[in-house]
Amino acid sequence: MSDLQQLETELLAAVTGAATLKDIEAVRVNALGKKGQVSVLMKGLGKMQPEERKPFGQAVNGLKQRVATALDARKSTLEDEALAEKLASETTDITLPVRPSPMLEGRIHPISQVWEEVTEIFADMGFSIAEGPDIEDDFHNFTALNIPPEHPARQEFDTFYFGKKEDGSRPVLRTHTSPVQIRTMENEKPPLRIIAPGRVYRCDSDQTHTPMFHQVEGLVIDRETHFGHLKWVLEEFFKAFFELDDIKMRFRASHFPFTEPSMEVDIGYAKVGDEIRIGEGNQWLEVLGCGMVHPNVLKSVNLDPDEYQGFAFGVGIDRLAMLKYGMPDLRAFFAADLRWLRHYGFSSLNMPTIAGGSGV
Ligand code: DAH
Repeated sequence: MSDLQQLETELLAAVTGAATLKDIEAVRVNALGKKGQVSVLMKGLGKMQPEERKPFGQAVNGLKQRVATALDARKSTLEDEALAEKLASETTDITLPVRPSPMLEGRIHPISQVWEEVTEIFADMGFSIAEGPDIEDDFHNFTALNIPPEHPARQEFDTFYFGKKEDGSRPVLRTHTSPVQIRTMENEKPPLRIIAPGRVYRCDSDQTHTPMFHQVEGLVIDRETHFGHLKWVLEEFFKAFFELDDIKMRFRASHFPFTEPSMEVDIGYAKVGDEIRIGEGNQWLEVLGCGMVHPNVLKSVNLDPDEYQGFAFGVGIDRLAMLKYGMPDLRAFFAADLRWLRHYGFSSLNMPTIAGGSGV
């Protein structure tokens, strides 16, 4: 066997014996790399006599090509094998049910859900969110809202008072979200269009009252907003919230110190068995207080009532949740009973959106 044949046999055997992509690369470098055995032979051609050079050159070239072809073939086989092995070891069965995880186990409390729904609907109408502290001073909770110290309305609120401070003042747990109206008007100039969802506190407890509950306050202040705008905003809100094309609403004259005129809004419903059906029937349920902001309230934040006007409203979030999702006892909301929460709670993956229906 000539030296060339001997070399070819050895190289091809090495190619066949290569078990990994790393091996095959080593074989390639040893044969065809710059200092590889075949390359060295090619370089030697220059020193040969012309008549020898031609046949030897052809023979080396042939060898080179056969080795290169063998290398490529072996390499691609090894690549296929590597891929198949990877695919086999990394298979994921996407038809398997999702594993239980805290994300799926957990439930959003109906109050949080309704809070989000209300926020979403008003945000869509161009309202921004305002906030205020749960512990309020007398001025923001009462006086600035046109409830001076001796006003009888103070008694209606069943206020939780803190002990007297050194300066003689007594902080309170806010009895409503209305003080956020004052704080907003103190800090920002009109035009204003805000809602303020939050916790409120009153010393009261029975089937429909808890010492802590939730309200959303609304406030619009500019130069031209009138009662018609208020009616429209509330109607749009209730239609979106209850996901109905039409809703029966009744505005009843009422009294609040911070609005003039003041109204209470009732919503029409029918009771079928134990179920409450909103938008049907001829029974009425009070859901909200509202009115045009009282001139004294504007004056208390140094806004000129001859220049500015607007409306305000306050609605109970817990009451809305009870109505929409048919939950009869308010106290269950705060009992931290997991069975109740699993039944009435919402999946964290269901975000309320206007497009998807606010309470999917
Ligand atoms: N603050 C009132 C309450 O807690 C609710 C309310 C009524 C708020 C009328 C308002 C309003 O902004 O205009 O009973």
